[in-house]
Amino acid sequence: MKSKEFTKQFLFQIQPGWKIIDVGAGNGHFSRLFVERGAIVTAIEPSSKIAEEESIQVIRTNVEDFIRTDVGKYDAVFIRNVIQFLSKDWVYRALFPWIDTHLVVNGLIGVETFFKEPSPPFENSIKSLYGLKELADEFPGWQILLKDEYEHYDSDMRGKKRLFYATDLIMRKVAPKEV
Ligand SMILES: C[S@@+](CC[C@H](N)C(=O)[O-])C[C@H]1O[C@@H](n2cnc3c(N)ncnc32)[C@H](O)[C@@H]1O
Repeated sequence: MKSKEFTKQFLFQIQPGWKIIDVGAGNGHFSRLFVERGAIVTAIEPSSKIAEEESIQVIRTNVEDFIRTDVGKYDAVFIRNVIQFLSKDWVYRALFPWIDTHLVVNGLIGVETFFKEPSPPFENSIKSLYGLKELADEFPGWQILLKDEYEHYDSDMRGKKRLFYATDLIMRKVAPKEV
C-alpha cells in the first residue's frame, strides 16, 4: 500500500542519533519505529493515547503551544495525518516557518495529509485540505524525495472503513546558495 511507502522511505533516511519530532504522534507507533532506527524522539501529542515510555520524550500538549516555546534543533519532523485538523492559515504562517528555522540543513520533513475529505466524511470536520503542489510550494528550493497523491480504502483509527485521499511529501532542507 502506498502509505506504507511513505513510512518506509522516511524510515530509510533516518540515521542513528537523529533528533526527530513526531507531531500528533497518536499512540506512538511511528515514534517507536524511529527509536528502533536509533533516533532520539520527541512525541508531541495532546491526548493520552501515547503512554509515557523511557525511550520517547512525550510532550503532552498541542503543537501550537509546543512551537511557542521550544528552541530545539532537529534532524527530522514527521507529521502524519495531523495538519488536516489544523487551520491552514496557521500551518502556513506559523508551523512551516518554525520547521524551516528549527530543522538543520539536510534535515527532513515528512508530511502525510488529505487532498480531499474522506468518504464517508469524518464526523468531526476536517479543517484543511492540501494538494501536493501547494504543499511543496511552501518549501521552495527543498529537495523532494517522495511526492504522491492517491486514493486508498482503509480503516480509520476507530476501525471504520473509508476511502481516503492522501497527499504524501518527503523533502530535504538544502543549504542556502552562497552569493
Ligand atoms: C489521525 S491521528 C494520527 C496519529 C499518528 N500521527 C498516525 O499517523 O498514526 C491525529 C493525531 O493528531 C493529534 N492532534 C490533533 N490536534 C493536534 C494538535 N493541535 N497538536 C498536536 N497533535 C494534535 C490527535 O490527538 C491524534 O492523535
